[in-house]
Amino acid sequence: MDRAIGVIDSGVGGLTVAHELMRQLPKEKLIYLGDTARCPYGPRSKEEVQKYTWEMVDFLLTKDIKMLVIACNTATAFTLDDLKEKLDIPVIGVIQPGARAAINFTKNNQVGIIGTEGTVRSGAYSYALKKIKTDIHVTALACPLFVPMVEKGILSGEHALDVISDSLLPLKKHKEMDTLILGCTHYPLLKDTIQKVIGEKVTIISSSEETARETSAILDVHHLLNKAELPPVHEFYATGDLNIFIEISRSIFKEANFHMLTIKKANITPNQVS
Ligand code: DGL
Repeated sequence: MDRAIGVIDSGVGGLTVAHELMRQLPKEKLIYLGDTARCPYGPRSKEEVQKYTWEMVDFLLTKDIKMLVIACNTATAFTLDDLKEKLDIPVIGVIQPGARAAINFTKNNQVGIIGTEGTVRSGAYSYALKKIKTDIHVTALACPLFVPMVEKGILSGEHALDVISDSLLPLKKHKEMDTLILGCTHYPLLKDTIQKVIGEKVTIISSSEETARETSAILDVHHLLNKAELPPVHEFYATGDLNIFIEISRSIFKEANFHMLTIKKANITPNQVS
């Protein structure tokens, strides 16, 4: 049996990355875990995010995954280096791929980034961007109201427009910005409204495409690509209520892919996983 790619997120946001992985790597089986019971991670301390992320990883390791994709910016910001060092499977996060994509798109080196408080506080995007290009100008803004809205299934409409308009006001004043990174995996679900608010002149980058491309390259280099001919059945888990998780999964994957998922509840308790 070919082994699966493990994908973790604090909730439903990583489904946008899983969707792109399924599109680019249709032969690969995914095992996704969303920690919806403890979402959001954004306002939590570094130590708490590290602890919860490791608990998710331990759950996926019991399923013998061949690679780990951290489809959560906050978890990437606080745990990527540690996971890379301690796991003996390839590990990839979403921050570097997002930063690389932004560098490709910006024409004037004026890049904005929106994310959770944790991601913005960590400075991980600025670090990743400046490591590639030293003269890049980065404006980072935390948008703490977006994730709770997405987790409730509110992805468009008047309320979403009001919240997004108010939250992005500080960025709208920054007239030169030509590229905006959605530095949170929940935000692509709000992309249309964000684009409307920020204006068509700004290129919006979500790291999912780039992350999927890098995942594919890493699997190839490690000779881990799946050779099976049959389409995979993906295992998706959430730690919290399954109803909204199923509803959002259905809207992201559409019927054509949704039927390829099994969705179950995962019970994760410290040092005891089932
Ligand atoms: N998935 C998280 C991220 O990409 C956002 C949700 C949260 O705060 O837990 O940063």
